[in-house]
Amino acid sequence: MVEILKLNEISNTVSEILTPNKYTITTEAKDPKAIILRSFSMHDYDMPTSVVAVARAGAGVNNIPIEAMTQKGVCVFNTPGANANAVKELVLFALLVSSRKIYEGINWTQNLEKDGAVAKQVEKGKKAFVGQEIFGKTLGIVGLGAIGKLVANAVLALGMKVIAYDPFVTSTDLAIDLTDDINQVYAKSDYITLHVPATPQTKNSINKDTIALMKDGVRIINLARGELVNNNDIKQAIANNKVAKYVTDLPSDDILGVDGIITIPHLGASTAEAEDNCAVMAANQLKDYLENGNIVNSVNFPKLQVERIGKTRVCVVSNDVKDIATKVSRSLKGIVGISGATRGDICYVIADLSNAPDKADIEALKAEALSVRVV
Ligand code: MLT
Repeated sequence: MVEILKLNEISNTVSEILTPNKYTITTEAKDPKAIILRSFSMHDYDMPTSVVAVARAGAGVNNIPIEAMTQKGVCVFNTPGANANAVKELVLFALLVSSRKIYEGINWTQNLEKDGAVAKQVEKGKKAFVGQEIFGKTLGIVGLGAIGKLVANAVLALGMKVIAYDPFVTSTDLAIDLTDDINQVYAKSDYITLHVPATPQTKNSINKDTIALMKDGVRIINLARGELVNNNDIKQAIANNKVAKYVTDLPSDDILGVDGIITIPHLGASTAEAEDNCAVMAANQLKDYLENGNIVNSVNFPKLQVERIGKTRVCVVSNDVKDIATKVSRSLKGIVGISGATRGDICYVIADLSNAPDKADIEALKAEALSVRVV
């Protein structure tokens, strides 16, 4: 049995892929081959040395120490796009809740006196909750990946205009204004929604200087990562009426109970559909890596998918980008196919052999590589 350690609750659909005849998915694995998780933080986690792969059922991987995993030869996967529709739907909610005083109105209604004339109180009091429509307004999208694209399509259908910025996207079929100047997004948008990971380049990108470029009364939506926004600066901007609303899925102590800030408890991907999609995608990727060495949607290793030929396959991860392929072909006997791919300073080589490799050859290769597996 191959043990898969789960560090969070994961949809049962994983068992349809990592089937019980071959895999045990458990919270108490002794020698797990792989880990599957959602938001568990692995930064201070003492990972069993048997682990060769980690799969995050979700898009963000800031709960995983990627560089340390790479140096251990551990492949880290995520599931880009698998929860994108769920996040898109929450963005639509955020647009509406930041425009109309729905949240304030609901709270007010719940506390009305039950005096037999609630309907009258409602009609008298509702003028305090007048909002604005999103139709005809401009939404600025920062990050035009799977979620950003779905959001763009959805809001175009609702009559909004879209301006988008993504340093990795240079053209699009969408009827939007794609700019290579993020400041244009800040300057032209009535609403801004963030769909980028938290990296050294993106952290704190919504701050007093970028807010100063924005329209008065802008509404900002952050369902991506808390670190993208400077909370002190956004609180200040709300107090000065520069920012009308900040809706975030990533609450922290300092923004709870602040007027103008709507906090959601990280529900972006919390739908049954998204949880199933992420679990299935993570499980498929893990299975193909464990059984065939193929890599799709890794965040630290190169993509490489090769049809199996021969009897066994040797998979080598190395930071000797220049010479590892030559070393593999010299070290192993009976190679019937060899392929490699590089990502930064990591090279991944798959060699198909007509027979099982010599143990001594594998041991010799291990001395040259971050990881060597026979699958
Ligand atoms: C993601 O990273 O996919 C979302 O933030 C949802 C999640 O963390 O599960």
